[in-house]
Amino acid sequence: MTITHQDELDGLKDIGRIVANTMHAMGKAMEPGMTTRELDGIGRALLEREGAIPAPESTYDFPGATCISVNEEIAHGIPGERVIRAGDLVNIDVSASRNGYFADTGATFRMGKVRPSLDRLCRDGKRAMQTGIAQVGSGKPLAGIGNAIGRFAAGRGYTLIRNLASHGVGRALHEYPEEVATWPNRGDRRRMHKGLVLTVEPFLSSGGIWAVEGDDDWTLYSQPPAPVVQYEHTVVATERGALIVTLPG
Ligand code: CO
Ligand code: CO
Repeated sequence: MTITHQDELDGLKDIGRIVANTMHAMGKAMEPGMTTRELDGIGRALLEREGAIPAPESTYDFPGATCISVNEEIAHGIPGERVIRAGDLVNIDVSASRNGYFADTGATFRMGKVRPSLDRLCRDGKRAMQTGIAQVGSGKPLAGIGNAIGRFAAGRGYTLIRNLASHGVGRALHEYPEEVATWPNRGDRRRMHKGLVLTVEPFLSSGGIWAVEGDDDWTLYSQPPAPVVQYEHTVVATERGALIVTLPG
């Protein structure tokens, strides 16, 4: 969507705060021995309490309120019987709507102590997202986001998953400008207009290049197999750069 009035920004910020609070509360509640279904239940209850509707379910009939992806699962993991263990990387992606406004946020959480290389990947995954967000602003090229993230990743010896794009959001979970690359992509000549709402969500990896679908038609895995992290904010392109709306508060 494009923000043109203050009430639109207020509506977007409301759902942005709700999905951010939900994701952070889920990250805190996570403990070894918990199933991903139990963790999803915590997220569902928090969204419900705020009058928010889980977007993966309402938009795509996804079998869960949130997407929870553990270790080799990199996105769209279905909450279920999988037990979270110490040392796991757990990606929690929360998208929801309220009063017709949609926001989308995600992060990879560490269950206790993880391998040092995974610690570094998590820290750098956040920095990769921030690098992309720094390229958001009215009049700026959409391809600038992926170009900057690509330089960041290459400079540190990482790879980026090249078929999981960022996207427009706001009045629907996925909308114009549809696919926004978080990797170098020369073909995209589009620019961000003032008030454009989009996500920035690079998938940073130590070797992964593609996301491939598993047998359940939802869960995505890295090809070649490698650790992957994702951090995601919903932002508005303004004349003074990115305004992040998925902030806890
Ligand atoms: Co998301
Ligand atoms: Co998204």
